Parts: sequence; structure tokens; C-alpha cells
Amino acid sequence: MTPLATSQTIAVIGAGAMGSGIAHVAARAGHPVRLFDMNAEAIARGIAGIARDLDFLVSRGKLDAAGRDAILARVQPAEALDALSDAALIVEAIVERLDVKQTLFADLERIAPGAILASNTSSLSITAIGAALKSPERLAGLHFFNPAPRMRLVEIVSGLATTREIAATLYATAVAWGKDPVHTRSTPGFIVNRVARPFYAEGLKVLGEGAASPASLDAVMRDGAGFPMGPFELTDLIGHDVNYAVTRSVFDAYYADDRFIPSLIQQELVLAGRLGRKSGQGFYRYGDGAERPLPEFAPTFPAPTTAHVCGESAELAALAARLEAAGVDVQRVGCDADCAPCLTIGATRLALTDGRTATRRSVDEGHDDLVLFDLVKDFATAMTIAAARSDRASDAAWTAAVGTLQAAGLQVIPLDDVAGLLAMRTVAMLANEGADAVLHEVATPADVDLAMQRGTNYPKGPLAWADEIGLDRVATVLDNLYAHYRETRYRTSPWLQRRRLAGRPLVA
Ligand code: NAI
Repeated sequence: MTPLATSQTIAVIGAGAMGSGIAHVAARAGHPVRLFDMNAEAIARGIAGIARDLDFLVSRGKLDAAGRDAILARVQPAEALDALSDAALIVEAIVERLDVKQTLFADLERIAPGAILASNTSSLSITAIGAALKSPERLAGLHFFNPAPRMRLVEIVSGLATTREIAATLYATAVAWGKDPVHTRSTPGFIVNRVARPFYAEGLKVLGEGAASPASLDAVMRDGAGFPMGPFELTDLIGHDVNYAVTRSVFDAYYADDRFIPSLIQQELVLAGRLGRKSGQGFYRYGDGAERPLPEFAPTFPAPTTAHVCGESAELAALAARLEAAGVDVQRVGCDADCAPCLTIGATRLALTDGRTATRRSVDEGHDDLVLFDLVKDFATAMTIAAARSDRASDAAWTAAVGTLQAAGLQVIPLDDVAGLLAMRTVAMLANEGADAVLHEVATPADVDLAMQRGTNYPKGPLAWADEIGLDRVATVLDNLYAHYRETRYRTSPWLQRRRLAGRPLVA
């Protein structure tokens, strides 16, 4: 499918944060742009904002002055909706209200009978907006991320009536604009706002169980698992009112599926007006003199002289190589039938979490001195990792296990004995949600992963990450969480189960 030609006019309605950003993107791609807002001052502010963004690019040497002037000259204010009749594409980025959007699009389909109509809505149904139109097949979602000029993801959202041609033209046009578009169906949260829910939910649940401080848990996800931010610093940045509202809307839209259940901890913050950075306080304090609490690391314990690797796994191979490089004598031994692959240091077993608490597992395995560690982005290079001990483990077992991880070059963040620790359960749940989105034909596996990497800057696509961990393991983690909590939120996606049983990866 061919993209819209750069000679064709793009109209943008709503000159706020998103509309002005979208106008910027279209003008920079070479289109004449008409920007309309019911508030004339908003248009002037929007165009001034575009000029500021372009000046920044000039100051960074990414654009020359002539280029900036040409782009700005292409963005023209529109004084009335009627002035948009010749647009090839009209993108709406006004207030997030179904009735207001429906009224606007009903006007637009009359004013611009040849235009493609697109909404930047992040939470409303494209099908519902289209229901007010005579030709709903002309309407699609074109969901940019904030800030639109910088974020590469665009979700192309098809409502029930949207034609394939319209979706394909928008896709090709987004590519021509330098974006990484993905196709998705009009379902609550589309891809990103749905698949990302466990990132917040698991963090909040683990915090609610008192596993560690927000600063420690953020460090586990950021420095260990490689996410750009941990869940608490990220929700402080997004704003708890906004993040909580998105969770509520997805939860309500899925008829109270406990997979999306909102957190009472976050509700408390909203009720207290602790909305995060913008209000000066959320999980952390902001403003003059505010100091960010530090993660709590385990004190340094002695390195072992000898460790045994029992069984085979990628994480043990990486840790063993790091221990050998540090001068520890590492010996490979056969694994007893009663335990999964682990490192042993004397009587202490050290293993990757499988979704059980360490205490549960030490009972199951009949071995008290058990310490579990969390998933990290890369066991060969990680510097930070979470670990938890069985309630039955001795202090000596804990110091031996922590000393071993430290000898491998890892700073250890102790967590209380929470099932699945934090990174493992979060990544398993992200992959599970992504798999369910695939099952319900919301998006292809490749688009789920691309959306999460481009829309939220995840270090890996969650489906590819699950393939890397191993689908048997991911399914085991989910099963163990399910058994532990007896909550249906941890039910394994049927599609993930099928791929696992067939021995096929989630992403080809
Ligand atoms: P905003 O509040 O910054 O701007 C909205 C603009 O629309 C305002 O200038 C307002 O005067 C104008 N407006 C409101 N009703 C109008 C109408 N009937 N006709 C013409 N102009 C009207 O809002 P923002 O953040 O730019 O959001 C706009 C849309 O984009 C919403 O649908 C939102 O859900 C969606 N969105 C927002 C994102 C964000 O991070 N802010 C991200 C992705 C989507």
C-alpha cells in the first residue's frame, strides 16, 4: 500500500500536547498541515511549541535553520472546521470524551467526504466512535505516544468497520513519517496499555507484600532486569491519577478480569493527592532538597572457595563463568532427581526462581538451606540482582548464597520471600498478557514485541524474552503463582500453552 503523498494535506484537530506533536511529525515528513483547536490560543501555543522543538533540533545539529523554517511554514492554523475540507487525512487529538469525539467526526465526514478520519484516542473504542458515523469504514485509530515527535511507535487501530485499505494506508504513511507502526484491533488498551499492565501491577503487589522498599524494587527492575525505570519511579513520572485511571478503564472494560485489578496502594496515593512528580510527592519526594532513597543492598559476605553446578541451565552457565573468572573453583556435578538446576555452596542451594516462594520450594525439595535469585536481563553482564531465602534457611546459607552472587560481581538486593520474586513474575506476566493479545487477534507476535519495545522502551519484547527464558519455565512460573495465590490473574494464556506443548517459540 502506498503512503499518502507529501503534497496531500494533513489536518490535526486539537492543538494540545499530542495534536501539536502529531502536526510536527506530519510537517517534518513534508506535508502541508492545518492545525485546528476550538481554542485559538491553543493553536498559537501549539505552533510555538513546535517551533521550540524544532529550535532544539537545530541546536543539536539535527536540522538546519532553513529546514526548520520550511517545516514551520508548512503548519498553518485553521480558523474553522470547514477549512479542512481538502485534507487527505484528519487526525483528531481533542478531549478524551466519546460524545465529543462522535460529534466532531460526524461533522468531519460531512465537511471532508474524501478524507481518512483518524483518532488519537488512547482509551476509547474506535468501533464506538465510528458508530456515530454514516461511513465508519473511513475511521481508524492512529495512536501516537507522548511525545509524538520522539516516540517511534504508532498503533494503527482498526474498529469493526475500518477497511483494510484505510489501515494499510495509515500504516504506510506512518512508515513514511519515520515511525514504527503496528496493526491492532479496537480492544481495551490496544496493545501497549494492555500488555504493560502487569509491569505496574506485579510491582505494586510485591510492594504490598512488604518484599522491599520502592527504591529497592525499582533497582531490581531497572538495574537488574534492564527496564528504563522501575514501576514506582515510572508511575511517579506518569502521574498516579493517570496511571490509575488507565488501569481502572482497562479493568472495567474487561468486565473486572482480575488480571487488570487496580491497586489499593495506588488508589491511596491518588486519594492523598500524591500524584507523583507533578504534585511533588508520590512514592518518592520531589523538589528542592528532596533526596531519593537508595536501594538497600545486602552487606558484603565472603566469597566461596568452591561451588558446584548441579544440572544445566543458561543462567548457571553464565554465573559459573563469572565465578571462575573471580577465582572460585567451580565443579560440575550431576543433579539429584529432587532438585532443579542449582549452584551448591556447601549445603546451600542457590537457584533461579520458578514462581514458588523459597520456603515452599525448600519444603517441596526437602532441603531447608535454599536461596532463590531473580531473573535479570543478561546473566553474563548484570550487576544487580534480587534474592530471597527460605524461611527455613540458616543464616549461614544466606551469607554463603549472597557471598557467591557477590563473588560473581552482582550487588544483591534482598527481598522477603515473595513468590516469583519481582523481575521473573513481571516478565512472565507481560509475556502472558502479550500471548493473550495474540490469541485474541489483537496483534501479531512481532507487533506485540515491537509495540512494547517502541512504546514503553522495554529492553526486550516480552514474547521473545519468554522464548529466551524457555516456555516450559515461563509456564511453570505462572502455574506456581496461580497455585500460590489461587488468583485467576495468573492463568496461563491458552496460546502460550499451545506453543509450549508444540515446542514452538512465541516469536518466529
Ligand atoms: P490536551 O488537553 O493537551 O489537548 C487537547 C486539545 O483539544 C486542547 O487544546 C483543547 O482546547 C482541544 N479541544 C478539546 N475539545 C475540542 C473540540 N471539540 N474541538 C476542537 N478542539 C478541542 O490533550 P492531549 O494530552 O493532547 O490528548 C489529546 C488526545 O490524545 C486524547 O484523546 C488523549 O487520550 C490522547 N492521547 C494522549 C496522550 C498523552 O500522553 N497525553 C498519549 C496518547 C493519546
